[in-house]
Amino acid sequence: MILVVKSGGEQALPDWQACFAEVAPQLRLRWWDDPSVDPASIDYALVWDPEPGRLAQFPRLRAIFGSGAGVDFIAADPLLPRNLPLVRCVPPEATQRMGEHVAWAVLSLAKDARRMALAQSRGDWDYFEAPFAAAARTVGVMGLGAMGLRSVAMLQALGIPVVGWSRTVKAVAGVDTFAGAAGLPAFLARSRVLVCLLPATDETRGIIAAPLLARLPPGAGLVHVGRGVQMVLPDVLAALDSGHLAGAVLDVFDPEPLPADSPAWAHPRITVTPHVGSLPSRLERARYVADCIARFERGDPLPNIYDPERGY
Ligand code: NAP
Ligand code: GLV
Repeated sequence: MILVVKSGGEQALPDWQACFAEVAPQLRLRWWDDPSVDPASIDYALVWDPEPGRLAQFPRLRAIFGSGAGVDFIAADPLLPRNLPLVRCVPPEATQRMGEHVAWAVLSLAKDARRMALAQSRGDWDYFEAPFAAAARTVGVMGLGAMGLRSVAMLQALGIPVVGWSRTVKAVAGVDTFAGAAGLPAFLARSRVLVCLLPATDETRGIIAAPLLARLPPGAGLVHVGRGVQMVLPDVLAALDSGHLAGAVLDVFDPEPLPADSPAWAHPRITVTPHVGSLPSRLERARYVADCIARFERGDPLPNIYDPERGY
C-alpha cells in the first residue's frame, strides 16, 4: 500500500518514513511530488495543504488524511474527491497539547507575562501586581469540539470558571453553554477571556472583529487558536489600543507566516506564537493515521470525518 505525504516539506519525508516504519511497516511512504510514483498506485494521502486539483489525479485513492485537526486547506480544493473520506487528525495528544496551550495562554494573560518578557529584555525589575487571579475571571470558549472540550476540562482543573459556545446546543458538565447566533451576545458578555477554537467556515470567517469585540466586557483578554481568517487583525489592534482588550495571545494569522512588518510583532500587549497551539509529534500522528488505515482496511468506521455539509 502506498501513502503519499505532503506535510512539513519534502525534508520531513525521512522522519515520516521512520515514524511509519515503527507503527505500520507494511505502508510504503512516498513524497507527494515524487515523479517515480505512478498516480494510479496511490492508496492513501496524508496532506496539510495540497495544491488544488492534485488529489483528484489519484484514481485509486481510498481515503485522505489531514495532518492537522483543521482540514480547511484541503477542503478548499474545488476538485476534492467528495466521495472519499477526509479524516481530521485528532489523536489524544493533539487535544492534550491544545489544552496545555490554552491554559498557558490564559495564565499568561492573568500574570501579564508579556509585560514581564518586555521588562526582562530591558533588564528592568518591573515590580507589579498580576492583573487578575485566573480563577476570578470566566473564560469563554468558542467551539466545543475535540479541542474546545479538552481545553475546557484543563481550565476547569485549574479552578477557572468556563462558559462555552457552539453551533448546536451542547451539555458540558460545570459549564454554562450557549449556541448559535442567538446565544452569542450572552456568551460574550460573560467571557472575560475569550478563547477561539472554531473551525474555518463561511460562518466563522472574520468573526473576531469589532462588533464581536465590543460585546466583550471591558478589559477582556483574547486567545486565538482557531484560524487566521477568523480574525480581523486591525480590529483587534484597535481594541487593544483603546484599552477595551487588555491583552491577546495570538497563534494563527492570515497570511502565515505573519509578515515581518505586522504591527502585531512589537505590540506590547500581544504575544505572538507561530501556529503551534497543538502540534503533535510526527510519531503521534503516524500512529493515529496507521490506526485509521487499519480500521478502514477492516471495514470499521473512521473517526473525525470532515462533513462537507457543515464545512468542518
Ligand atoms: P471540531 O471537533 O469539529 O469542533 C468544532 C466546534 O466548533 C464544534 O463545537 C462546533 O459546534 C463549533 N462550531 C463550528 N461552526 C460554528 C459556528 N458557526 N458557530 C458556533 N460554533 C461553531 O474541531 P476541533 O478538533 O475542536 O478543532 C477546531 C479548530 O481548531 C480546527 O478546525 C482548527 O481550525 C483549530 N486548530 C488549531 C490548531 C492550532 O495549532 N492553532 C490546532 C488544532 C486545531 P457543534 O459542536 O455544534 O458542531
Ligand atoms: C493545526 O492548526 C491543526 O489544525 O491541527
